[in-house]
Amino acid sequence: MRKTIIAGNWKMNKTAKETRATLTELRALADGIEGVEIVIGTPFTSLESAVETVKGSNIKIAAQNLYPKDSGAFTGEISPVMLKDLGVEYVILGHSERREYFNESNEFINSKVKAALAHGLTPILCIGEKLEDREAGRTAEVNEKQIREGLAGLTSEEAKKTVVAYEPIWAIGTGKTATPEMAEATHLEIREVLVDMFDREIAEEMTIQYGGSMNAKNAKDLMAQKDIDGGLVGGASLEASSFIEVIKAGL
Ligand code: G3H
Repeated sequence: MRKTIIAGNWKMNKTAKETRATLTELRALADGIEGVEIVIGTPFTSLESAVETVKGSNIKIAAQNLYPKDSGAFTGEISPVMLKDLGVEYVILGHSERREYFNESNEFINSKVKAALAHGLTPILCIGEKLEDREAGRTAEVNEKQIREGLAGLTSEEAKKTVVAYEPIWAIGTGKTATPEMAEATHLEIREVLVDMFDREIAEEMTIQYGGSMNAKNAKDLMAQKDIDGGLVGGASLEASSFIEVIKAGL
């Protein structure tokens, strides 16, 4: 009953011209695919060409950040109003790279999630533990804090429109993936936190993606797990030919 969403996070990769080329290829490869929501998150500078290139197709476009104000004196920032105006539908928030390199706190991320929802953008809230947390047995605790604080104050209706992406930091860009069983166990813990924050019916409707070295080889086994409802894919989303294989694994 919940949506499988497979999102590519291009991070700081591809010019507008490269975006057009990759999405033209992906659009042709993904033509006719139904049953999986396909999303691509491009840098801000590529969003306009991305939206134009996928117009009328089954691919949706995500931004990788926003600033939680409509407009104003915030030099260098991009508002949800601007994203919406371009035709962007999703926004990736709280990615571990932003938490680490730009010191984003749960509170700040929470304000971004709310701003996204207020403007009709679907937030993808990223959470995940570091290797030292997992080794110290703190995985559940760390993820619970990020979910509770990241989704604090959301109404049930807003929660239903929100996507959670579980990305164990030790698996991002490392080639090390959580085993399907390990990932499923954490997804289940995450869903139970959502049950406690909202209720079971809402938690069961929420998409929880897995992210961290997901590729054409491991995607099928990961997404076959009951509580893994798609993926947030970095490296393997950069080429249309590899990303289409991840998408097909989710069918
Ligand atoms: O947002 C995507 C994740 O950071 C995963 O990246 O697939 O390159 O490990 P990766």
